[in-house]
Amino acid sequence: MLNDAAVVILAAGQGTRMKSRIAKVLHRAGGKPLVRHAIDAALEIAPPERVFVVVGYQAEEVRAEVEAAGVQSIHQTEQLGTGHAVMCGERQLAELGGRLIVFVGDCPLIRAGTLEQLAETQKESHAAAAVITTEVDDPTGYGRIIRLADHSVLEIIEHKDATPEQRAVREINSGILCFDADSLWRHIHQLQPDNPAREYYLTDMVAILNLAGLHVTALKIPDSGELLGINNRMELAQADRILRARKVRQLMLDGVTIEKPETVTIDADVRIGIDTTIGPFAQITGETTIGENCRVGACSIVHGSQLGDGVEVFPFTMVSDSKLDANSQVGPYARLRMEAHLAERAHVGNFVELKKTEMGAGSKSMHLAYLGDSTIGEKVNIGAGTITCNYDGQKKHATVIGGGAFVGSNSTLIAPLEIGEGAYIAAGSVINQTVPPNALAIGRSRQVNKEGWKKRG
Ligand code: UD1
Ligand code: CA
Repeated sequence: MLNDAAVVILAAGQGTRMKSRIAKVLHRAGGKPLVRHAIDAALEIAPPERVFVVVGYQAEEVRAEVEAAGVQSIHQTEQLGTGHAVMCGERQLAELGGRLIVFVGDCPLIRAGTLEQLAETQKESHAAAAVITTEVDDPTGYGRIIRLADHSVLEIIEHKDATPEQRAVREINSGILCFDADSLWRHIHQLQPDNPAREYYLTDMVAILNLAGLHVTALKIPDSGELLGINNRMELAQADRILRARKVRQLMLDGVTIEKPETVTIDADVRIGIDTTIGPFAQITGETTIGENCRVGACSIVHGSQLGDGVEVFPFTMVSDSKLDANSQVGPYARLRMEAHLAERAHVGNFVELKKTEMGAGSKSMHLAYLGDSTIGEKVNIGAGTITCNYDGQKKHATVIGGGAFVGSNSTLIAPLEIGEGAYIAAGSVINQTVPPNALAIGRSRQVNKEGWKKRG
């Protein structure tokens, strides 16, 4: 944490190069919108009341992310450039004094430690500003760092405005700067849109501060990957790959076994306990928590779900917005969705779908079933081919099955329906009336044998 710094994240642009109807900063990498990556890094160095995000294009949608993260927003009505974006925050920001760290909202790989180093560099060299730079093989699109003989930074020239010699410079502007706030606010109104793009470039502040006799320095970092700016979908994919690799590496260091780690997709907010194994091509997304000693099999997808300890998700299974208690099992080829809940040791097997259904402890449905809007007690056996008819074309209805009941194969359970504890449903039944506890219900036509039928005529 820095005690005298505020952070402003620039996120008002449309991001034309994305060719999208969605604002660039709302595109996701590593399972989080780009703007959230910036906010999360900012929150590691400054308290939420000193973190600001400039919104403009699709302001309402971007502001929703900003508010969810508990930080402040600033509105930029017209996107007249990065310098203009900062000016829009003058009223809220200038009174804070101290130092202002400004960074572009499309730079999701930046680490909080690097921001701290930037602030340190600015302070130590008593500079009016410090900028994070790096050298890249292909600097196309980035602002170029023009240095003086004493290595201080004289100016930043945008790619589109650069001469061929300036374009040959491979040291680029990350878009992340730390300003001495007083120097910034004293001079920011000198920015002019005197460039072919007619924009107020924040980067022009460097030349302006130099002209005012102030000093600008740079923090040049070796890992250019950390500064990747996202302007198109190829860069988005590149950032996603790096963020996924970081997440998987952290999980492995924390005690999770990941088979073929380069093939799995795990979102930033996922938490996984020790000695759990994740199989190849698994995707674990959203706010998912997985306990210890679990196994998520190959090619399974787990989204927004809570798994207790010792849970087994066999391959090719999809679990979303559901809860699986300790030692329950699901799959292969199963689907749990919309608040499905497996209590301890419940088993759901291949080609079984559960929707908004609760399976009591030790209950089983091992093959080919659809159980929707149902509450199933403990130690119930659901035979293969059982279907709850929970929808009458207009409304959904509930099915309640008491503990210890046995539902024979290929039963059709027409909801609303109640099956008592310990009841027994004969295979192939159509059941649409309450079954009392411990009763046998048979709802099918009797078999008729016609002797000698084959030999007739
Ligand atoms: C910017 C820098 C460039 C740097 C690069 C690093 C400027 C003028 N250029 O270029 O030197 O190398 O980032 O990635 O600063 N935004 C606003 N309001 C605006 C315009 C932009 O909030 O009016 C926001 C955008 O939403 C975006 C960020 O500022 O998050 C950067 O804008 P972008 O157009 O991507 O700048 P670059 O051309 O990449
Ligand atoms: Ca950019």
